[in-house]
Amino acid sequence: MARSWLRRGAAAVAVCGAVLTSVPPATATGGPVVPDTRIVGGRNADVRDVPWQVSLRSRDGHICGGSIIRADAVVTAAHCTVGAPPDSLSVQAGSSVRGSGGQIVPVARVLRHPKFNAATIDYDVAVLELASPLDFGAGVRAVPLLPEGREPITGTPATVTGWGATRDGGALPERLRRVDVPKLSDTYCKGAYGTSSITPRMTCYGYEGGRKDACQGDSGGPLVVDGYLAGIASWGTGCASPGHPGVYTKVSDPSIHAYITRS
Ligand code: ARG
Repeated sequence: MARSWLRRGAAAVAVCGAVLTSVPPATATGGPVVPDTRIVGGRNADVRDVPWQVSLRSRDGHICGGSIIRADAVVTAAHCTVGAPPDSLSVQAGSSVRGSGGQIVPVARVLRHPKFNAATIDYDVAVLELASPLDFGAGVRAVPLLPEGREPITGTPATVTGWGATRDGGALPERLRRVDVPKLSDTYCKGAYGTSSITPRMTCYGYEGGRKDACQGDSGGPLVVDGYLAGIASWGTGCASPGHPGVYTKVSDPSIHAYITRS
């Protein structure tokens, strides 16, 4: 099984894009056609229901998700911005279809958390300043941040959205997808990945049995609790695999929260 966190490092973005665009769709393998809902448990989403969702693009297309926090700023994962020159990046907002429709605005500046560590994926947050403000309307609007220190309790339901793969190593869907996942305890999260791998800036969402999860290409995208941005899709071992839930950057962490609000 592919360990998504092996994508970390200088080539993270290039590797993600190259791998994801070169893999044939599941139905091209000649095997039985398995519905996506059995793989990551997702379903199609409409951007008007998650109007903060954007697709972060390099010259070659979609690389990651992101969330609108102001008309001229998007939050994403720091690892999404490694190895990609800022002038090659743009965001697509206001469309449910990857690479088509909506507004496409260039990124003017990438602000990566100064403590981001590509080896441990700690402090996995970046703010993208846009070259011009987005036009807010149906399908385009900012998401409020979960307040600092207000981390949801274990079991709290959350929704994660994106154009990431619908199975580990699979192709990217054209349509935006969503999946509901509850927050897991820190004890479970640390048991799954090792105590030292899970820092205070990280939190797990998903199921102990797997089946529902974010996947490659969802990184940087929103995990929303009650209309507030609570997490940023960051890493995981494989996708939706039992005992290996999704790991998200914790927006309520003081250092993460302060970095986003002061950028
Ligand atoms: N790191 C991957 C990316 O760049 C995927 C992150 C989410 N993985 C997961 N199993 N929840 O898109």
